[in-house]
Amino acid sequence: MNSSAVDRFDSNARRAAGRFGRTVVRPGEIIRHPVYTRVLHWSVAIFFVLALLTGFAIYTPWLFRWLAPLFGGGPMTRLLHPWFSLAFVILFVLQFLNWLRPMTWNASDTRWMRNIRSYATNAEDVEPEDVGFFNGGQKIYFWAIVICALVLLITGLPMWFPSLFGRVAVIISYVLHDIAALVMLGGFIVHLYEGTVSQPGTFHSMTRGTVSRRWAWTHHPAWYRDATGRDPRADYERAKQVAARERPPAGP
Ligand code: HEM
Repeated sequence: MNSSAVDRFDSNARRAAGRFGRTVVRPGEIIRHPVYTRVLHWSVAIFFVLALLTGFAIYTPWLFRWLAPLFGGGPMTRLLHPWFSLAFVILFVLQFLNWLRPMTWNASDTRWMRNIRSYATNAEDVEPEDVGFFNGGQKIYFWAIVICALVLLITGLPMWFPSLFGRVAVIISYVLHDIAALVMLGGFIVHLYEGTVSQPGTFHSMTRGTVSRRWAWTHHPAWYRDATGRDPRADYERAKQVAARERPPAGP
């Protein structure tokens, strides 16, 4: 599919999903993730977690004791795992098409990566002015999922149908499959932290679909400029002055 075919497919899907749900934008908010994106993201997340739990149940005997009973015992867990994983991959393909454009790497992402230390330590109040819809870290997570999902799919097939592929392919697949799953687990833990407690307001973008203007000019200034036509730095400074005026005077 070329990029205009992807855009056409994606905007038709967004329109169709928009008929089943609404995004209410309150004063002081802007829309970030429409209904279609939210439904896809949470469907991907549900099947990812199911695939992860069934996968880890098969992976180690220690987790097997705790996790396999949740899925109806060992043989049922083994049967369900490839189907949960397949659902995850298919849904992620749709998410891939949905986010392909904003996830394209650019020069500002390379600059962001060079400065990752100041991001991790919250050294600045606001992100650099060229940070767009997603920052470099979010894009790396996305592309890591693309690569790992491909590896999991390609290596999962010989493990699912060993008689079709032969012993060597199955042994290599086990090793690569486990490495890709562990990378996904690590990324998921960081993502869970970044999407919830690390940045208040981010989780709201995936539930209600909107973010506050303050959130947008703080974390994604270039996107804020595109979405509103306003200067993110000027709005940040103005909000700072208003907050300073409204702060009660110190002392007794
Ligand atoms: C279950 C817990 C999860 C929570 C609380 C969560 C939360 C979020 C939130 C709030 C965003 C929006 C970030 C933004 O707009 O800047 C987001 C984006 C995203 N989510 Fe999740 N998510 C979860 C699970 C997953 C899973 C399982 C995957 C895939 C394996 C995933 C993949 C992504 C990707 C690729 C993005 C866009 C890039 C990014 O923000 O890192 N998420 N998630």
